[in-house]
Amino acid sequence: MVNTVIVGHGRKSHGEKASILSRRHVFRSRQKLVIMISVSLCLLALFKLHSLYELSSPTPLPRLRSRFSNYSYIGPPKIAFLFLVRRNLPLDFLWGTFFENADVANFSIYIHSAPGFVFDETTTRSHFFYGRQLSNSIQVLWGESSMIEAEKLLLEAALEDPANQRFVLLSDSCVPLYNFTYMYNYVMGSPRSFVDSFLDVKEGRYNPKMSREIPREKWRKGSQWITLVRKHAEVIVDDEIILSVFKRHCKRRPPVDTRKGKLNLKLQKQHNCIPDEHYVQTLLAMYGLEGELERRTLTYTLWNQSATNMENSGWHPVTFTYASASPQKIREIKGINHVYYETEYRTEWCRANSTLVPCFLFARKFSLGAAMRLLSEKVIGSFEVFALLDAPP
Ligand SMILES: *[C@@H]1O[C@H](CO)[C@@H](O)[C@H](O)[C@H]1NC(C)=O
Ligand SMILES: *[C@@H]1O[C@H](CO)[C@@H](O)[C@H](O)[C@H]1NC(C)=O
Ligand SMILES: *[C@@H]1O[C@H](CO)[C@@H](O)[C@H](O)[C@H]1NC(C)=O
Ligand SMILES: *[C@@H]1O[C@H](CO)[C@@H](O)[C@H](O)[C@H]1NC(C)=O
Ligand SMILES: *[C@@H]1O[C@H](CO)[C@@H](O)[C@H](O)[C@H]1NC(C)=O
Repeated sequence: MVNTVIVGHGRKSHGEKASILSRRHVFRSRQKLVIMISVSLCLLALFKLHSLYELSSPTPLPRLRSRFSNYSYIGPPKIAFLFLVRRNLPLDFLWGTFFENADVANFSIYIHSAPGFVFDETTTRSHFFYGRQLSNSIQVLWGESSMIEAEKLLLEAALEDPANQRFVLLSDSCVPLYNFTYMYNYVMGSPRSFVDSFLDVKEGRYNPKMSREIPREKWRKGSQWITLVRKHAEVIVDDEIILSVFKRHCKRRPPVDTRKGKLNLKLQKQHNCIPDEHYVQTLLAMYGLEGELERRTLTYTLWNQSATNMENSGWHPVTFTYASASPQKIREIKGINHVYYETEYRTEWCRANSTLVPCFLFARKFSLGAAMRLLSEKVIGSFEVFALLDAPP
């Protein structure tokens, strides 16, 4: 390369003198080049050293930006209900009745649905949901990190309103177990978030490749269905670092395909992170915020612990039907006052602001029939049958 340039230069020169001059020039050019290369090498070495240094020390977490903080907010605090749904809200009629008995100044609703899906007269039976879908929703792959991104979009939208002081994440199969007033006083009365969070020692979902950013002792597991105070909602919305680690090293395992035989076994042994069961818990642990949590979820799930399920892809939540959502069963769920966490030998007596309370305010998964039964048994308060009959299907 260098030679080619010099030859080219020489050939363009005129006669002997020019040629000698040219050779001198060549010499100087070479000197310059050597210096340039040396300087470059030095810089490169410095840069390498710097990145080596970075490698050996854990990435520090950024200070919280609190760009939404409004601690000066005075006025009736709202609970933001954040619905993370596939498309529509099949149990809208039950929630509609729930909100009917509330004060509109005490709550707000946000929905993350499939992009383009609109909540209006034609798609929902309850006016509370009209137009409440996010306009920037994304395509969610269930159990992938896109689900966390959708949660973050919901929290971000809800944080825009300074009146929103609590944030309840719900799915399209969640139901309320109490009337609004009871739920409101319970959630607002607690200065802490409700986040199911426990040590995850058994299952090997932790990927050692994350250890630089997420030390093993901060790795947590817990239910996705959380209720947050404003400060913790901000931490989640502001985080980019831990989420990017999850995106790189925490992926969902492919579904069981028994035709694949041995290969299937191997696939099932790789890290199956299920980000939505780890992200919020781990993030809050990393920020040292666990002391500000009630470490349990407000949403009841009944797990099908049948042996056949265990062999396949683990336990599945049972879906309540009209028959199984009996008043007796609902009373049982509402009567639960403690939860035992096996990995920590921890019995969590359910409290809200130090007062012993029933553990669960919500439950999943409920079919249409099961939700109908809740309504007719007046679990969440009185309702108008006619409103229901009038509504579109
Ligand atoms: C904070 O809340 C108060 C109402 O209590 C409002 O007047 C003010 O504009 C809010 N500030 C911000 C930055 O949102
Ligand atoms: C709400 O539920 C609580 C607890 O179940 C009950 O004591 C209260 O009377 C109910 N309030 C209304 C307005 O239905
Ligand atoms: C609405 O909130 C106020 C306090 O902020 C409370 O006194 C009232 O009971 C709430 N209304 C309902 C229906 O929960
Ligand atoms: C929690 O309980 C204490 C003492 O009973 C009370 O002073 C405080 O206002 C309660 N906190 C909330 C958020 O209601
Ligand atoms: C539990 O799972 C088994 C096997 O998949 C299934 O046959 C059974 O119906 C499930 N039970 C309930 C209550 O959903």
